[in-house]
Amino acid sequence: MLEVRDLSLTVPLQGTATLAVSNLSLQLQAGKVLALVGESGCGKSLTAQSMLRLGEYQGVGKASGDILLHGQSLFSMPDKQLRQVRGGSIAMIFQEPMTALNPVFSIGSQILEVIQLHTDLSPEQASARALALLADVGLQEGASLMQQYPDALSGGMRQRILIAMAMAGNPEFIIADEPTTALDVSVQKRIIGLLRTLQQDKGLGMLLVTHDFGLVAEMADEVAVMYAGEIIEQGSVFEIFDHPAHPYTKALMNCRPEAVTDGGALTVIPGKVPAPGSWGQGCRFKSRCTFGTDVCDKHVALDEWQQGSHMVRCVHVMDAKS
Ligand SMILES: Nc1ncnc2c1ncn2[C@@H]1O[C@H](COP(=O)(O)OP(=O)(O)O)[C@@H](O)[C@H]1O
Ligand SMILES: [Mg+2]
Repeated sequence: MLEVRDLSLTVPLQGTATLAVSNLSLQLQAGKVLALVGESGCGKSLTAQSMLRLGEYQGVGKASGDILLHGQSLFSMPDKQLRQVRGGSIAMIFQEPMTALNPVFSIGSQILEVIQLHTDLSPEQASARALALLADVGLQEGASLMQQYPDALSGGMRQRILIAMAMAGNPEFIIADEPTTALDVSVQKRIIGLLRTLQQDKGLGMLLVTHDFGLVAEMADEVAVMYAGEIIEQGSVFEIFDHPAHPYTKALMNCRPEAVTDGGALTVIPGKVPAPGSWGQGCRFKSRCTFGTDVCDKHVALDEWQQGSHMVRCVHVMDAKS
C-alpha cells in the first residue's frame, strides 16, 4: 500500500512558503485505480509529484504529514533507497511526453538506462527486456525504434515509450498525471486502453490525475475530488457518478460535454479557483457556491457528511440534494 497521510505542502510565492495542499490523505492499493479530479490549479500535480518527492526540486515544501510505502516513510528514507523507489516500486507517467524524454539521447539509451538502474541484467538481457517492454506497449519495430530520437516520433508513440519506461522497473504503483491530455483524441483512447490493460494484468495500484470524467468512468475504482488544495469529496466511482453530493462535484459533472443536451452551450462554473494564500478558515468553494451561508465560514471536515466510504466536505449536502 502507498499511503498519503495528512499531507500539507507549501509552494514559494513572493518569497514566502505558502500552503498549496492541505491535510490531504489518500491510499493507493494494489490492483485499484484512484482518480484525483478537479479544475486546473487545485493542487493535483503537486500531490502527484509529492508521491515521489519530486516537487522539492521546484521549492515545494512539506508542512505536515507523511507518505508511506508499505509503512515506510518516503521522507525518512535514505537518498539511495529513494532513488530505487523512483521508477522502481513507484513509477510516474507525465502529461507531456515530449518534455519527459531527453531529446539528445536515443530511445534505446533512455530505456536501457532505466532497466540498468532497476535490474541486474546483462547488456544482452537488458536489450531483450527493452524489446519486450516496447512490444508490451504495442511497439513492434523495437530494434529500429531504439535507434531513433524522440523528435522523430509522434506524441502517441512517445507516450507509449514513457509507459514502457515506467514499466521497466516492475512498479507496484503508477502515478499518472493527465497521461493523455496532450494527445489527439483518437490516440488518447488507445493509450487509455493500454494503461488499463497493463494496470489490470500486473495488478498495479494507480493514481490517475485527470479532469476528464469520461476517463474516470472508464478506469477508476475510487474517486477523490480536489478543490483549492484539499479533498472535498471522496467515494467509489459509483457513489461519485450516481450520487455526487458536494455542490462543486455536481457543478463539475454538469460541465461535462455529455451533460449538455439539445446542442446547448457548455456549462462553466463562474469564478475561479482561489489561489494558494487566499484561503480562509471555512469552505473554499463558498464564493462560487449557490448554497453558501454563514455556517460555511467555519472549518468543514471531510466527513461532515458521510455514508460508508462516501465523504463530503459540505454542510449543505441535504439542501443540495433536494
Ligand atoms: N513550484 C511551484 N512554485 C510556486 N507555485 C506553484 C508551484 N507548483 C505549483 N504551484 C501553484 O500551486 C497551485 C496548484 O498547482 P498544481 O498542483 O499544478 O495544480 P493542478 O495540477 O491541479 O492544475 C497552483 O496555484 C500553482 O500555481
Ligand atoms: Mg496539473
